[in-house]
Amino acid sequence: MTRPTLIAPSILSADFARLAEEVAAVERGGADLLHVDVMDGHFVPNLTVGPPIVESLKKVTKLPLDVHLMITNADVFVDEFASAGADYLTVHVEACPHLHRTVQAIKERGVKAGVTLNPATSLHTVEEILPDVDLLLIMSVNPGFGGQTFIESCLKKITAARQMIDRSGSHALLEVDGGVKVDNAARILAAGADVLVAGSAIFCGTDYAATIAALRAAGQPVSAHR
Ligand code: DX5
Ligand code: ZN
Repeated sequence: MTRPTLIAPSILSADFARLAEEVAAVERGGADLLHVDVMDGHFVPNLTVGPPIVESLKKVTKLPLDVHLMITNADVFVDEFASAGADYLTVHVEACPHLHRTVQAIKERGVKAGVTLNPATSLHTVEEILPDVDLLLIMSVNPGFGGQTFIESCLKKITAARQMIDRSGSHALLEVDGGVKVDNAARILAAGADVLVAGSAIFCGTDYAATIAALRAAGQPVSAHR
Protein backbone atom coordinates (compact mmCIF):
# COMPACT_ATOMS: atom_id res chain seq x y z
CA MET A 1 0.00 0.00 0.00
CA THR A 2 1.38 3.41 -0.87
CA ARG A 3 0.62 6.28 1.44
CA PRO A 4 0.97 9.90 0.35
CA THR A 5 4.03 11.66 1.71
CA LEU A 6 3.30 14.94 3.43
CA ILE A 7 5.93 17.65 3.92
CA ALA A 8 5.80 19.99 6.91
CA PRO A 9 8.40 22.79 6.80
CA SER A 10 9.40 23.88 10.31
CA ILE A 11 9.51 27.68 10.56
CA LEU A 12 12.12 27.40 13.31
CA SER A 13 14.79 27.82 10.63
CA ALA A 14 12.91 30.52 8.69
CA ASP A 15 13.82 34.21 8.73
CA PHE A 16 11.44 35.48 11.41
CA ALA A 17 11.79 39.06 10.20
CA ARG A 18 10.19 37.94 6.92
CA LEU A 19 7.95 35.23 8.28
CA ALA A 20 4.91 35.84 6.03
CA GLU A 21 7.13 35.75 2.91
CA GLU A 22 8.85 32.59 4.10
CA VAL A 23 5.52 30.90 4.73
CA ALA A 24 4.18 32.00 1.34
CA ALA A 25 7.30 30.56 -0.31
CA VAL A 26 6.86 27.09 1.19
CA GLU A 27 3.13 27.19 0.50
CA ARG A 28 3.85 27.98 -3.17
CA GLY A 29 6.59 25.36 -3.06
CA GLY A 30 4.16 22.56 -2.29
CA ALA A 31 4.21 22.19 1.50
CA ASP A 32 1.32 20.25 3.01
CA LEU A 33 1.46 21.49 6.60
CA LEU A 34 3.28 24.28 8.42
CA HIS A 35 5.19 23.04 11.48
CA VAL A 36 5.34 25.56 14.34
CA ASP A 37 7.74 24.80 17.20
CA VAL A 38 6.68 26.19 20.56
CA MET A 39 9.40 26.11 23.24
CA ASP A 40 9.20 27.35 26.80
CA GLY A 41 12.81 27.45 28.04
CA HIS A 42 11.86 24.84 30.62
CA PHE A 43 10.88 21.57 28.92
CA VAL A 44 13.54 22.40 26.34
CA PRO A 45 16.46 24.83 26.66
CA ASN A 46 15.18 27.34 24.09
CA LEU A 47 12.43 29.92 23.66
CA THR A 48 10.39 30.49 20.55
CA VAL A 49 6.85 31.59 19.83
CA GLY A 50 3.39 31.47 21.40
CA PRO A 51 -0.30 31.81 20.49
CA PRO A 52 -0.07 35.35 18.99
CA ILE A 53 2.28 34.12 16.25
CA VAL A 54 -0.02 31.16 15.53
CA GLU A 55 -2.91 33.61 15.25
CA SER A 56 -0.94 35.80 12.84
CA LEU A 57 0.16 32.82 10.74
CA LYS A 58 -3.44 31.67 10.47
CA LYS A 59 -4.25 34.93 8.67
CA VAL A 60 -1.55 34.58 6.03
CA THR A 61 -1.64 30.90 5.06
CA LYS A 62 -4.11 28.20 4.10
CA LEU A 63 -1.67 25.50 5.20
CA PRO A 64 -2.85 23.54 8.23
CA LEU A 65 -0.87 24.67 11.28
CA ASP A 66 0.94 21.74 12.89
CA VAL A 67 1.81 23.08 16.33
CA HIS A 68 4.46 21.14 18.27
CA LEU A 69 4.32 22.06 21.96
CA MET A 70 7.66 21.59 23.70
CA ILE A 71 6.34 23.02 26.93
CA THR A 72 5.92 21.76 30.47
CA ASN A 73 2.34 22.87 31.11
CA ALA A 74 0.55 22.07 27.86
CA ASP A 75 -2.84 21.77 29.58
CA VAL A 76 -2.81 25.45 30.47
CA PHE A 77 -2.34 26.47 26.83
CA VAL A 78 -4.65 24.12 24.89
CA ASP A 79 -7.50 26.66 24.74
CA GLU A 80 -5.26 29.52 23.68
CA PHE A 81 -3.60 27.58 20.87
CA ALA A 82 -6.96 26.22 19.72
CA SER A 83 -8.43 29.74 19.60
CA ALA A 84 -5.32 30.97 17.79
CA GLY A 85 -6.04 28.53 14.96
CA ALA A 86 -3.87 25.45 15.49
CA ASP A 87 -5.07 22.58 13.30
CA TYR A 88 -2.90 19.97 15.01
CA LEU A 89 -1.68 20.31 18.61
CA THR A 90 1.03 17.85 19.54
CA VAL A 91 2.14 17.34 23.13
CA HIS A 92 5.08 15.47 24.65
CA VAL A 93 4.36 12.35 26.73
CA GLU A 94 7.26 13.37 29.00
CA ALA A 95 5.48 16.64 29.87
CA CYS A 96 1.90 15.38 30.26
CA PRO A 97 1.25 13.20 33.32
CA HIS A 98 -2.46 13.01 32.42
CA LEU A 99 -2.00 12.44 28.71
CA HIS A 100 -5.47 11.03 28.08
CA ARG A 101 -7.06 14.13 29.63
CA THR A 102 -4.82 16.44 27.60
CA VAL A 103 -5.63 14.63 24.35
CA GLN A 104 -9.36 14.78 25.09
CA ALA A 105 -9.12 18.51 25.87
CA ILE A 106 -7.46 19.10 22.50
CA LYS A 107 -10.11 17.10 20.65
CA GLU A 108 -12.96 18.81 22.53
CA ARG A 109 -11.72 22.06 21.04
CA GLY A 110 -12.08 20.56 17.55
CA VAL A 111 -8.32 20.38 17.05
CA LYS A 112 -6.48 17.28 15.84
CA ALA A 113 -4.48 15.76 18.68
CA GLY A 114 -0.90 14.61 18.38
CA VAL A 115 1.46 12.95 20.83
CA THR A 116 5.21 12.84 20.64
CA LEU A 117 8.15 11.32 22.45
CA ASN A 118 11.81 12.11 22.83
CA PRO A 119 14.46 9.78 21.37
CA ALA A 120 15.11 8.10 24.75
CA THR A 121 11.43 7.54 25.55
CA SER A 122 9.96 4.11 24.84
CA LEU A 123 7.25 3.71 22.22
CA HIS A 124 5.24 1.79 24.80
CA THR A 125 4.38 5.09 26.50
CA VAL A 126 2.00 5.90 23.61
CA GLU A 127 0.54 2.45 23.03
CA GLU A 128 -2.62 3.04 25.09
CA ILE A 129 -3.34 6.49 23.68
CA LEU A 130 -2.78 5.59 20.03
CA PRO A 131 -6.43 4.86 19.15
CA ASP A 132 -7.34 8.36 20.42
CA VAL A 133 -4.83 10.43 18.47
CA ASP A 134 -4.64 11.86 14.97
CA LEU A 135 -0.86 12.08 14.83
CA LEU A 136 2.12 10.31 16.36
CA LEU A 137 5.34 12.29 16.14
CA ILE A 138 8.64 10.49 16.53
CA MET A 139 11.41 12.89 17.55
CA SER A 140 14.64 12.00 15.80
CA VAL A 141 16.70 14.60 17.66
CA ASN A 142 16.51 15.80 21.24
CA PRO A 143 14.06 18.69 20.89
CA GLY A 144 15.07 22.30 21.35
CA PHE A 145 17.04 23.31 18.29
CA GLY A 146 16.97 23.15 14.53
CA GLY A 147 19.91 21.90 12.49
CA GLN A 148 20.81 18.86 14.60
CA THR A 149 21.86 15.48 13.22
CA PHE A 150 19.28 12.71 12.76
CA ILE A 151 19.74 10.02 15.43
CA GLU A 152 20.06 6.80 13.42
CA SER A 153 18.66 4.54 16.14
CA CYS A 154 15.31 6.32 15.69
CA LEU A 155 14.78 4.49 12.39
CA LYS A 156 14.04 1.32 14.34
CA LYS A 157 11.50 3.22 16.42
CA ILE A 158 9.83 4.62 13.28
CA THR A 159 9.46 1.08 11.91
CA ALA A 160 8.01 -0.11 15.22
CA ALA A 161 5.66 2.89 15.38
CA ARG A 162 4.37 2.11 11.88
CA GLN A 163 3.64 -1.46 12.95
CA MET A 164 1.98 -0.30 16.16
CA ILE A 165 -0.29 2.12 14.27
CA ASP A 166 -1.24 -0.46 11.65
CA ARG A 167 -1.85 -3.16 14.24
CA SER A 168 -4.05 -0.95 16.38
CA GLY A 169 -6.16 0.19 13.44
CA SER A 170 -5.40 3.80 14.43
CA HIS A 171 -5.79 6.43 11.72
CA ALA A 172 -2.92 8.47 13.20
CA LEU A 173 -0.41 9.99 10.82
CA LEU A 174 3.18 9.06 11.59
CA GLU A 175 5.38 12.16 11.58
CA VAL A 176 9.15 12.38 11.99
CA ASP A 177 10.92 15.53 13.23
CA GLY A 178 14.59 16.34 13.53
CA GLY A 179 17.53 16.08 11.15
CA VAL A 180 15.36 15.14 8.18
CA LYS A 181 17.28 15.84 4.94
CA VAL A 182 16.94 14.93 1.28
CA ASP A 183 19.63 12.27 1.70
CA ASN A 184 17.97 10.39 4.57
CA ALA A 185 14.31 10.93 3.61
CA ALA A 186 14.08 7.69 1.60
CA ARG A 187 15.09 5.60 4.62
CA ILE A 188 12.68 7.45 6.93
CA LEU A 189 9.81 7.02 4.49
CA ALA A 190 10.67 3.38 3.88
CA ALA A 191 10.47 2.86 7.65
CA GLY A 192 6.85 4.02 7.44
CA ALA A 193 6.66 7.79 8.01
CA ASP A 194 3.74 9.72 6.52
CA VAL A 195 4.87 13.24 7.37
CA LEU A 196 8.40 14.65 7.20
CA VAL A 197 9.14 17.77 9.23
CA ALA A 198 12.10 19.65 7.78
CA GLY A 199 13.45 22.96 9.06
CA SER A 200 17.06 23.61 8.12
CA ALA A 201 16.88 21.30 5.08
CA ILE A 202 14.31 23.65 3.53
CA PHE A 203 14.91 27.12 4.97
CA CYS A 204 18.72 27.03 4.94
CA GLY A 205 18.66 26.24 1.22
CA THR A 206 17.81 28.54 -1.66
CA ASP A 207 15.15 26.65 -3.61
CA TYR A 208 12.42 25.70 -1.16
CA ALA A 209 10.18 24.15 -3.82
CA ALA A 210 12.99 21.91 -5.11
CA THR A 211 13.80 20.67 -1.60
CA ILE A 212 10.14 19.99 -0.83
CA ALA A 213 9.81 18.10 -4.13
CA ALA A 214 12.99 16.11 -3.46
CA LEU A 215 11.83 15.16 0.05
CA ARG A 216 8.50 14.00 -1.35
CA ALA A 217 10.11 12.13 -4.26
CA ALA A 218 12.25 10.17 -1.82
CA GLY A 219 9.11 8.20 -0.99
CA GLN A 220 8.46 7.14 -4.59
CA PRO A 221 9.63 3.84 -6.03
CA VAL A 222 12.80 4.29 -8.10
CA SER A 223 10.93 3.72 -11.39
CA ALA A 224 8.71 6.73 -10.62
CA HIS A 225 11.69 9.10 -10.34
CA ARG A 226 11.96 9.65 -14.09
C1 DX5 B 1 13.39 20.55 17.15
C2 DX5 B 1 12.12 20.94 16.46
C3 DX5 B 1 12.15 20.70 15.02
C4 DX5 B 1 13.20 21.48 14.27
C5 DX5 B 1 13.69 20.60 13.16
O1 DX5 B 1 13.22 20.66 18.50
O2 DX5 B 1 11.03 20.24 16.99
O3 DX5 B 1 10.86 20.88 14.42
O4 DX5 B 1 12.74 22.67 13.71
O5 DX5 B 1 14.74 21.23 12.54
P1 DX5 B 1 15.70 20.46 11.54
O6 DX5 B 1 14.82 19.97 10.42
O7 DX5 B 1 16.66 21.52 11.12
O8 DX5 B 1 16.32 19.34 12.31
ZN1 ZN C 1 9.09 20.27 15.87
